[in-house]
Formats: sequence, C-alpha cells, structure tokens
Amino acid sequence: MKTLQEIVSGAKRLVFFGGAGVSTESGIPDFRSTDGLYNQTYAYPPETILSHSFFEMHPKEFFRFYRDKMLCLDAKPNKAHKKLAELEKKGILAAVVTQNIDGLHQKAGSKSVFELHGSVHRNYCMECGKFYPAEYILASKDVPRCECGGIIKPDVVLYEEGLDDATVRGALREISNADVMIVAGTSLTVYPAAGFLDYFRGRELVLINRDPTPADRRASLVIRGKVGQVLDEITV
Ligand code: APR
Repeated sequence: MKTLQEIVSGAKRLVFFGGAGVSTESGIPDFRSTDGLYNQTYAYPPETILSHSFFEMHPKEFFRFYRDKMLCLDAKPNKAHKKLAELEKKGILAAVVTQNIDGLHQKAGSKSVFELHGSVHRNYCMECGKFYPAEYILASKDVPRCECGGIIKPDVVLYEEGLDDATVRGALREISNADVMIVAGTSLTVYPAAGFLDYFRGRELVLINRDPTPADRRASLVIRGKVGQVLDEITV
C-alpha cells in the first residue's frame, strides 16, 4: 500500500482501466469468477446469449436474460468508484477506461469515462433512433418496442459487434499519454479491450486484482486484493 501511495502521489497523468471486478463490491456479479455470470447455467452459454446473432435470432430470450442478469439499476457506486471520482476532481486522474456497462463511475461523479462496451443507460430504437432509458427496458415485457414499432436495442457492445470508434480513439489517447496506469478488476481475457494495455508507455503499471492476470509480470506493482478496499486507502 505504501508503494501504491507513492506511485499515485507522484503521478502526473494517472489513467484507470477497469472491468467487472470494480463493480462486484456494488453487488454486481462479474463474469468469470467462480460465482460469476459465466459460471451459472442457462439454456445457452451467456457468451452466446450476449451475441449479435443471438439478439437477432432470439430477441425474446435475449431480453429475458438481459433484464434478469445485466440490469442492476439499484446498484450504488462503491469505494473504488468514489475514490476514482475524487482523484479526478483533484486533477490526479485523467480518465477512467472501463469495460463495464453499469454507469457507476458517472454515478460516483467521474466525468472523463470511456465505456468500451457501451452502457445499459443508453437504448435506441433500431428504426427511428429514439432514445430510451434503462428503466424503460427493465419495465418492458418480451421485446421492448418503440412507439414507432421498432425494436429498442441497448447501446451495449455484444459479442460479434465492434467497439465505438470515438470511444476507442479517446481511450487509447489517454492510455498512451499516461505516466501511471492502474488496471483493476479485470481478467484481461476479452479483446480488443485487453490489448489496450499495449498502448501504455508510462513509468508505472499497477495491477489490483483478486486473481492473477496475464499482465501481472509486466506490472511494477501487483496487489492481490479487493479494489474498493485498496483504492480507499489512498490519500490525496
Ligand atoms: N477486487 C479486485 N478484483 C476483483 C474483485 C474485487 N472486488 N471482484 C472480482 N475481481 C476480479 C476477478 O478475480 C476477475 O479476475 O475481477 C476479474 C473479473 O474478470 P471478468 O469476470 O472476466 O470480467 P472482465 O474482465 O471485466 O470481462 C471483460 O468480458 O463478457 C465480457 O463484455 C464482458 O466487459 C466484459 C468482458
């Protein structure tokens, strides 16, 4: 912790790169831990359900799973989200790059957030483009329909879909300009997101993760712990 404190205090442009493990302390399960979403049993593997072709072929089944497992609208920001928002306010943290779609960083007050996999809080009609909030999707039955009759699609990157260009460019710009990067709560197994680490050219790479990750050997500091608890101990 002392080393982490020194690294953060000495950072000129700190960037945070996070995954589902940042939200587990808010009660949102991650994907690949033993109690994670991908280790529970469903009619189809969750990675299949959360794919573009499944959305197209079985929209009713997709939305049943999506409402049940991907919409945790009463989840609150935890200590990790709050500390990151505080570090941004103090001018130490330049940006959060997240794979999460829960919007908790913004709820905690973070302004510069790059949502690589989109957000449950943005939903658009596939016909007319009309915007709908997540609450509308949660309250809808079967396949959510726009008043024009079109299907409303969540602005979430499904398997087989590409990431948003502007978001990718912004995230890579921040990562390549950072002198310190903290990577936390991610198994770094899903590309292209996991490959974004290759754009980091700064001094200190810090890994805070409960389980080992493929980037551990590249890090100057690896902390095996809960990211909320660890970040909460940083003083600025
Ligand atoms: N503190 C620190 N690490 C944690 C915590 C915690 N409180 N809770 C879980 N972890 C770690 C787990 O050990 C695991 O290595 O977070 C990691 C979560 O990994 P995944 O479940 O694979 O989540 P993530 O890396 O975000 O998945 C990436 O996969 O399915 C896609 O689009 C989905 O964005 C997701 C992507």
